[in-house]
Amino acid sequence: MYRIEELDALEILDSRGRPTVKAGCRLADGAEAWASVPSGASTGDAEAHELRDGDPARYGGLGCRRAVANVRGPIRQALVGRAFRDQVELDRALLELDGSPDKSRLGANAILAVSLAFARVVARAAGRPLYAHFAAMAGIEPRRLPQLTINLFSGGKHAGGQAAIQDVLVVPVGFGTIDKGLAATYAVYQAAAALIRRKYGMRLLRADEGGLAPDFPDCETMLADAVEAIRAAGFEPGRQVALAVDVAASHFWREGRYHLADEPLTSPEMIDTLAGWLERYPVVSVEDGLAQEDWDHWPVWRRRAGDRALVLGDDFLCTNPDRIRRAVAAHAASALLLKVNQVGTLTEALEALRLARQAGWAVTVSARSGETEDDWLADLAVGWQGDQIKIGSITQSDRLAKYNRLLEIERATGLPVSPA
Ligand code: PGA
Ligand code: ZN
Repeated sequence: MYRIEELDALEILDSRGRPTVKAGCRLADGAEAWASVPSGASTGDAEAHELRDGDPARYGGLGCRRAVANVRGPIRQALVGRAFRDQVELDRALLELDGSPDKSRLGANAILAVSLAFARVVARAAGRPLYAHFAAMAGIEPRRLPQLTINLFSGGKHAGGQAAIQDVLVVPVGFGTIDKGLAATYAVYQAAAALIRRKYGMRLLRADEGGLAPDFPDCETMLADAVEAIRAAGFEPGRQVALAVDVAASHFWREGRYHLADEPLTSPEMIDTLAGWLERYPVVSVEDGLAQEDWDHWPVWRRRAGDRALVLGDDFLCTNPDRIRRAVAAHAASALLLKVNQVGTLTEALEALRLARQAGWAVTVSARSGETEDDWLADLAVGWQGDQIKIGSITQSDRLAKYNRLLEIERATGLPVSPA
């Protein structure tokens, strides 16, 4: 049993300079730990509610003082002095206290910060690394490290909207270790930066997750430029460095049409476009290729993609067990993008992971576009055995904290990287 002696919280700033929540938990045996929650920009409609102050005079309404006050007030009152057997019991107490279907009463940001701080303090009290604690929580034995998927080019809501799709990512499939995968990615990133300067004649503009964001003439050029950068770095596209795409299609879907370019596309036309990309480029994963409410067409796209690429659901699934169950029954996807703050507690995210695994799906563990220097995501991806991890580019400390933590875990465990 783990008795909570004190809970506290603080408003801190994320990688976009917007407020977010950091919570601390001290156990009766003296162990103490803090954890911070990230925040999205291209959010799904079914996400748990992130509580913001709404005061336009402060951070344009984005302040998190109410969420912090909820940790220091009602959550603290309810939990301090109580002992919990495990994460499930703690998260259940948080859910009961909130009582709303979408965590809007206390705020998913307040709830998740406490859920994570408890996980970290229990790991500390048990004297084991956080990834080992996450693995024990899930009843998993870690055998490999996640494959890196690293943001190279950005568009959509994370950039100036030059191109409709959100991310083109490199997947260093041919290297076997995190260490070598990062070195290869650095070479590709440098080659891409030189190519962008030459082709678009501009200084580097970086998007929210550190991706390069020049004025691409169209979406397919992002893929073609990525392949050119891989070759320029001296690698073989597909065999050594493959690609992944986050289409984030919900964000350019209006009135039943996909506004990918000038001519709006119907759903079958959008599926043809995606299938064409799979034929012409070494793309191993397509995230949110269709809009979150385009349920009828996801199974069609899933069949069309076959085994060529993962049909990965982000906004479509929102790490939400009910949506995942529906998608599994409909054969609407083949992979889950797991973002803990989309659902709001570790226990619910673990349920999402289990549902995906039971269906034989792959799992990509993902950061948000607004991140902090906290590195728990790397431990989570290893402990829960994500097939891939998606953190962003290799340029900002909020992202690098997680890459560097993966390097530490690699050194400590000696585990190999999962095949793509
Ligand atoms: P978000 O985007 O964190 O801004 O929601 C990340 C993604 O779409 O994968
Ligand atoms: Zn996404």
